[in-house]
Amino acid sequence: MRITICKDIREMTKKVAGEVAETIRGNPNIVLGLPTGSTPEELYKELVLLHKDQGLDFSRVITFNLDEYYGLPASHPQSYHTYMDQHLFGHININRKNVYIPDGMTKDIGDHCRLYEANIKRHGGIDLMLLGIGRDGHIAFNEPGSSLTSRTRIKTLAPETIEDNARFFKSKDEVPRYALTMGIGTIMEAKKIILMANGKNKAEALGLTVEGPITHMVAASILQMHNRVIIYTDEEAAAQLKHIPYYKHEEKSWLTTVEY
Ligand code: F6R
Repeated sequence: MRITICKDIREMTKKVAGEVAETIRGNPNIVLGLPTGSTPEELYKELVLLHKDQGLDFSRVITFNLDEYYGLPASHPQSYHTYMDQHLFGHININRKNVYIPDGMTKDIGDHCRLYEANIKRHGGIDLMLLGIGRDGHIAFNEPGSSLTSRTRIKTLAPETIEDNARFFKSKDEVPRYALTMGIGTIMEAKKIILMANGKNKAEALGLTVEGPITHMVAASILQMHNRVIIYTDEEAAAQLKHIPYYKHEEKSWLTTVEY
């Protein structure tokens, strides 16, 4: 695991956008895993700028979103379909045939989730997975207690998540109670993972993720078992990390190994 502590979200998103752009340039057919929420908003802005100013080409990029609220149609203003259109897909030259987002209105959840997994496999797996982290340590919507080997499925949102996401809805009561989400096992099969954390309300979750024990009560802690994870954090989210001097020292001379 590599840890990069950035001054603020601006510096963090610039670095992540640079890394994503470099990866796309190196492999135009890349398969990306994409999050929603407030953390990646700035990142998507940067990627749109890189597309507009430097011609970053998304025409062959394939994307799989991590999750979608169950019960919201794609056209709902707060669906993740709408979010992705507004923040990224509506502004870049992505081929809509290459975009996968779970269907929150699916009639057959089991089949839909199996097909989602099959599509990821058919495209050769996810090359680069981008993640945010919830206040309760969730990645995608793998809430505390999620099986560490879980696959794409329906999950009940935790009260903290409903509270946190109420800011996007008119009231807390409007936040869906369920989501279709990639599983932890699905996420762990990605070849490389970047997790972004910012703000002081993520500090406890990040501290436990990086330096705590691996436990399904902090889903992100499973990332300790992956050999290519980079965590980009701002100073506020890094506040509970105890080994910052080592992370900074290591970052100065990161080795070009494929395993971290
Ligand atoms: C959403 C997702 C979630 C968010 C997490 C943090 O697609 O996968 O795990 O990344 O809830 O959300 P923000 O960035 O809004 O704090």
